[in-house]
Amino acid sequence: MMILVHLSIFFSILFISLPSSHSCTANDKNALLEIKKSLNNHPLLSSWTPQTDCCTVWSGVQCTDGRVTYLTLSSSYFSGNIPPAITKLKSLDILFFKYSNFSGPIPDNISDLKNLTYLGLSFNQLTGPIPGSLSQMPKLQAIELNDNKLTGSIPDSFGSFVGNIPALELSNNRLSGKIPESLSKYDFNAVFLSGNRFTGDGSMFFGRNKTTIQLDLSRNMFQFDLSKVKIARSILMLDLSQNRIFGKIPRVLTTLRRLERFNVSYNRLCGKIPSGGRLQTFEPSAYSHNLCLCGTPLKAC
Ligand SMILES: *[C@@H]1O[C@H](CO)[C@@H](O)[C@H](O)[C@H]1NC(C)=O
Ligand SMILES: *[C@@H]1O[C@H](CO)[C@@H](O)[C@H](O)[C@H]1NC(C)=O
Ligand SMILES: *[C@@H]1O[C@H](CO)[C@@H](O)[C@H](O)[C@H]1NC(C)=O
Ligand SMILES: *[C@@H]1O[C@H](CO)[C@@H](O)[C@H](O)[C@H]1NC(C)=O
Ligand SMILES: *[C@@H]1O[C@H](CO)[C@@H](O)[C@H](O)[C@H]1NC(C)=O
Repeated sequence: MMILVHLSIFFSILFISLPSSHSCTANDKNALLEIKKSLNNHPLLSSWTPQTDCCTVWSGVQCTDGRVTYLTLSSSYFSGNIPPAITKLKSLDILFFKYSNFSGPIPDNISDLKNLTYLGLSFNQLTGPIPGSLSQMPKLQAIELNDNKLTGSIPDSFGSFVGNIPALELSNNRLSGKIPESLSKYDFNAVFLSGNRFTGDGSMFFGRNKTTIQLDLSRNMFQFDLSKVKIARSILMLDLSQNRIFGKIPRVLTTLRRLERFNVSYNRLCGKIPSGGRLQTFEPSAYSHNLCLCGTPLKAC
């Protein structure tokens, strides 16, 4: 049943990818066959045969002009390390290995993939640090590494991206320590750090002139003064719950008409919840378990 579901996903992707007039280049075909070998000729890759065109009939593969630009290996039936030969697919645009039970480190030289826009390695068993070299990938728009077992902090090199500023989805790992202050100059579209062990300041993700839409710092040990941060008007989702954040809830939040999700529960906030905007529409649980927050939807001050 699982196999059928996955195959149908692969085939729908294949149909979207048609048509490609060029057949698979030898370099890319060889790299894919190497990948298949390192996955012990997994049955899910039975369509990957040397006699056929990798651009038209191989499951999980898409090409542009004969070069492999899309590769997905998404099935809990894979295991072992991420196949090193992926770094030979120089034209890759999208790499999507989700729920694949891959373990071991993220290869450092994955940054050789200069055309990669999407790195999706969520829901695996990956260990070790986030490679600092990811900041050297000029086209990267999203780094999705959530739900792994990664350790260390956000690399210092993330203070100097050479190209795009990618969305960061790093939730539910074992990341720890302080976030580099140098990240404050970046205008991230979305940052998800929930469920790690980050400490210290988290205010570098805020800024009045930023266009950040989603910011989730929940379930960490961040410790900073919320009264002092400048909230971007673009914010739709702000989850700061379960940290050690102190100070007051900024009044400017009452001016955010589009705020859809907001949660500051389980912190050390104090003072009256500013009234206005959408702030009174959230459940009490969005504010509960603070030092001394009061006012609707909590008890009167
Ligand atoms: C990347 O490193 C791995 C070993 O860690 C190696 O097997 C692979 O060939 C390297 N890729 C390239 C393109 O050099
Ligand atoms: C990277 O993308 C650009 C623009 O789409 C393309 O011209 C170039 O050939 C690609 N590089 C590789 C190695 O495929
Ligand atoms: C995931 O991989 C581990 C080894 O890394 C293995 O013990 C386990 O059985 C695998 N899980 C599944 C669902 O295949
Ligand atoms: C934010 O933008 C305003 C108006 O464009 C500008 O005057 C101000 O200097 C900017 N502030 C920062 C911190 O960049
Ligand atoms: C806020 O977060 C807390 C803790 O993470 C959770 O229990 C509560 O249901 C959340 N409330 C809302 C309205 O999101």
